[in-house]
Amino acid sequence: MTQKDHKPENGLLISPIQNGTVIDHIKAGEALTVLRILGITGSTEESLSIATNVKSNLTLRPKDIVKISDRELSKEEVNKIALISPNATINIIRNYRVVEKVGVEIPDILTGVVKCPNPGCITNSNEPIESKFEVVDETLHCLYCDNIISSDIVDYII
Ligand code: CTP
Ligand code: ZN
Repeated sequence: MTQKDHKPENGLLISPIQNGTVIDHIKAGEALTVLRILGITGSTEESLSIATNVKSNLTLRPKDIVKISDRELSKEEVNKIALISPNATINIIRNYRVVEKVGVEIPDILTGVVKCPNPGCITNSNEPIESKFEVVDETLHCLYCDNIISSDIVDYII
């Protein structure tokens, strides 16, 4: 048995999945935030496994893991996860194998991902205009009204 086989996420804590998405290396404690932004609640139908505060071999720091069977994520959803947890990895599982592994990345422009806090912003009017923010050094600048979001970004995720 290799050392890898001893990792709790390899079966002791939560089982491998057959098909779907594993969001791994989520910042410890943020798994439930990830579920919220994916719109997963107690009344939706996904098969889910969630592990929190798992010791990660990679960093020796705890992490959270979310496994969602039979679902793949959209680009917007991946961008939202990047805002919550920049070190997360998205693993696509098909027939028990990891067929794709990507790190999340906060793009330079976020479209339709974050709500502008300015009630007077045109993106909060009845006009069908999606929010658009430029990402500069971990702050978000609304491209319509120049409002800046510099803290609690998670609270503004749509
Ligand atoms: N996984 C799973 N079901 C599978 C295959 C993998 O739930 N059928 C999970 C693993 O438990 C792990 C993640 O998907 O949490 C990524 O799997 P893998 O790439 O095999 O693990 P590591 O090499 O440890 O990944 P990393 O290097 O990204 O930490
Ligand atoms: Zn605005």
